[in-house]
Amino acid sequence: MSARMLDGRTLSKEIRASLFERSLRIKNNGRAPGLAVILVGNDPASKVYVRNKSKACDECGVMSKVFLFPKTVSEHELVELIEELNASNEIDGILVQLPLPEHVNMRNIIGCISASKDVDGFHLYNVGGLVVGGTIFPPCTPYGVQLLLETAKIEVSGKNVVIVGASNIVGKPMALMLLQKGATVSICHIKTNDLSLYTRLADILIVAAGKPGLITADMVKNDVVVIDVGINRMPDGSITGDVDFDNVKHKASWITPVPGGVGPMTVTMLIENTIKAAELRMSINNLEVTKWSNKIRCKDYPNYLVKFDMPTVIIAGTENEVKECYEVYRQLRPALTRKSFTEQILRQMKSDNYKIACIKKDGKVVACAGFRILETLSWGKALYIDDLITDEMSRNRGHASHLITWLQEEAKRLSCKQLHLDSGFARINAHRFYQNSGFHIRSLHFSKEL
Ligand code: GUN
Repeated sequence: MSARMLDGRTLSKEIRASLFERSLRIKNNGRAPGLAVILVGNDPASKVYVRNKSKACDECGVMSKVFLFPKTVSEHELVELIEELNASNEIDGILVQLPLPEHVNMRNIIGCISASKDVDGFHLYNVGGLVVGGTIFPPCTPYGVQLLLETAKIEVSGKNVVIVGASNIVGKPMALMLLQKGATVSICHIKTNDLSLYTRLADILIVAAGKPGLITADMVKNDVVVIDVGINRMPDGSITGDVDFDNVKHKASWITPVPGGVGPMTVTMLIENTIKAAELRMSINNLEVTKWSNKIRCKDYPNYLVKFDMPTVIIAGTENEVKECYEVYRQLRPALTRKSFTEQILRQMKSDNYKIACIKKDGKVVACAGFRILETLSWGKALYIDDLITDEMSRNRGHASHLITWLQEEAKRLSCKQLHLDSGFARINAHRFYQNSGFHIRSLHFSKEL
C-alpha cells in the first residue's frame, strides 16, 4: 500500500486564488497590501526563498519590495531601515530573511520589527502568543503544516506527535501549535539519544532536521502521517527532504512530497499573514468615531489590539469632553472629587499644552490619561503622563496597554526620549508596560495626589 499525498502545491494554488480576492478588496479600499523583504548577503538558498516569496506576492496581488544588503551591513543600517518600514503606510508586513551574518544580532533585528508587521511571527510578542494561545501571526512553516493536516482532516487531538528538530522557526512553534490542539508532543533534536525510540511512537511525525535520508522505513510505525519539512539540495542539483520517501511511503498513511509539500505552503502562509496584517490595519483606520471626529488622532496601533475591540484613542479638547473624562476619573477614583478639577485641567490644557487622551468603548469613556510635554534642562524633552485610569485595570489589561501604546507612539512622534510617570503609575506597577519601550522611564513621586 502506498501513502496518500499531502499535496502542498495544489492546496497552495487554491489558497492563493482566495488570497488574490482578499488582496483585491484591500486594493479597492486604497492600496494593495505591501510586504518588505530584507535580504543580507549572497546565500544561494536565501536568494531562492526570497525570489519565491516575491513571485507568490505577484500571484496574490501583494506589492513586494526587496531590500538587498551586502553581508558587511551594520546592525545600525538594518535597524534604520526597519524603523522606516515600521512607520511606512505602504508596508503591512516586514520579513528579514534568515540567517543573518554572524556580526548582526538577529534578536535585536527581529525585536525592532513592529509586532503588527511581524508576518514571519518571530517577534517575541507573537512568540508569546503561541505559548498562551492566540498569536496573531503564526510562523509560516508550522502554520502551513497545520493547514495541510486540517485540510486532509487529520485529527491531531490525542495523537502522539513527534517533531524532529527544535528550531525557533519550525520545531518549537510547531510543538506549541499542536499542543494547543490537544496533541501529545515530543520534540527530538540533535542531542536526542536513540531517535527511533521516539519516531516509532509517532502517529504524526514532523521532520525538520535538514539531514537527507534521516528517517528510514524501520523508524516509523504503520499508518504514520509523515510531514517532511526538510529542503536539501543534493550534489546533482535535485531537492530532497529528510525522509527516505520511496520506502517510508509504503508504511505511511499520509506523506508530504519534497518538493511540492510543505515548501509552497510556507510561502502561501506568509502571504496570508501579510494580507491579514493589511486587513487589520484597514479595520483600524476605518474605525468610526464620529462624535469627536474633529479631535481624532488616528494612528496605526499594533493590530492585535483590534482583538480587544478597541476604538481609537481620542484627545479631549473641549470643555464637555474634559468633563466626560473627569466623570470617569470621579467614578473610578472616588477620592478625586475636587470640584475645581475640571477647571484646573482646562486651565492646564491652555497654559501647559496639557491634554487628555482617552478611549471610548460603546460610546463611553473607559480609560483616560492626562499628558503633556516637558522640556527639562537636565532631562531634555519628556512626555509626562498623569494619572492613567481604566475601568478594568485589574481585570482587562487591554485598555491600559492600548492607551499606553498610544502614549508611547505619541512620545516618539514628538521626539521625546523619556517618559515621566506619576506616582499613580508606580502604585499600579505599570512600569512593566514600558519595559523594552526604548524610553528612559522616570517615576515622579508627589506627596499629594490630584
Ligand atoms: N529562513 C529559513 N526559513 C525562513 C523563514 O521562514 N523566514 C525567514 N525570515 N527566514 C527564513
